[in-house]
Amino acid sequence: MKLVVGNKQKEIDRIPEFNRVEIDLGTGDGRFVYKKALENPNTLFIGIDPSQKQLQIYSKKANRKKLDNTLFVIGSIEILPPELKNCADKLNIILPWGSLLESIVKPTKNTISKLLGLLKKDGEIEMIFGYDPNFDVKASIPEINLEYVESTIIPAFSEMGICTLEIPKDLDTTWSKKLKSSKKRELFKLNIKNIKE
Ligand SMILES: C[S@@+](CC[C@H](N)C(=O)[O-])C[C@H]1O[C@@H](n2cnc3c(N)ncnc32)[C@H](O)[C@@H]1O
Repeated sequence: MKLVVGNKQKEIDRIPEFNRVEIDLGTGDGRFVYKKALENPNTLFIGIDPSQKQLQIYSKKANRKKLDNTLFVIGSIEILPPELKNCADKLNIILPWGSLLESIVKPTKNTISKLLGLLKKDGEIEMIFGYDPNFDVKASIPEINLEYVESTIIPAFSEMGICTLEIPKDLDTTWSKKLKSSKKRELFKLNIKNIKE
């Protein structure tokens, strides 16, 4: 699995041992991973994103602080490193766009089992997402409103887990700050508890 470490890349073939592991898929600059790792030194936080440039931003800060409970991994929902199979207590997906957003709002059995495949037996997924008419139309994303979430997304995820809907609050990622200063869009938060054997 390919890691970003500051300006460099590094290969590892297994993750370090921690009692608790959280993944942030589509982490962008990795701010969420960095902040959470500072607050929770006994949990390993793994940020995954296709953009090496973005990952470098908080990887450099984590290096400076010698945070050994962070990993910044180059990957995507399409190409997830096999080393991460069944490793996570929690998988976060926060304000995805592009094909990551499309995968969760037009869920197929294949994508859902890929996501669940990252979890330990009692693991959970937390996804926070919404529709931005400025970007998402081009990316063939359906309009995401409460009716769409309840009629399409929740039933698909409920087949493989216990799925609950909430309204998100207190988001602390780079993108959530950008959204606060622009015009409001409706956001949804889904929590899925893994019920696979
Ligand atoms: C709007 S940004 C949000 C970043 C971060 N979660 C935040 O809240 O600041 C969306 C992120 O999704 C990533 N992304 C897009 N397609 C992806 C895919 N197929 N798999 C994983 N990440 C993807 C992008 O590289 C980008 O960093």
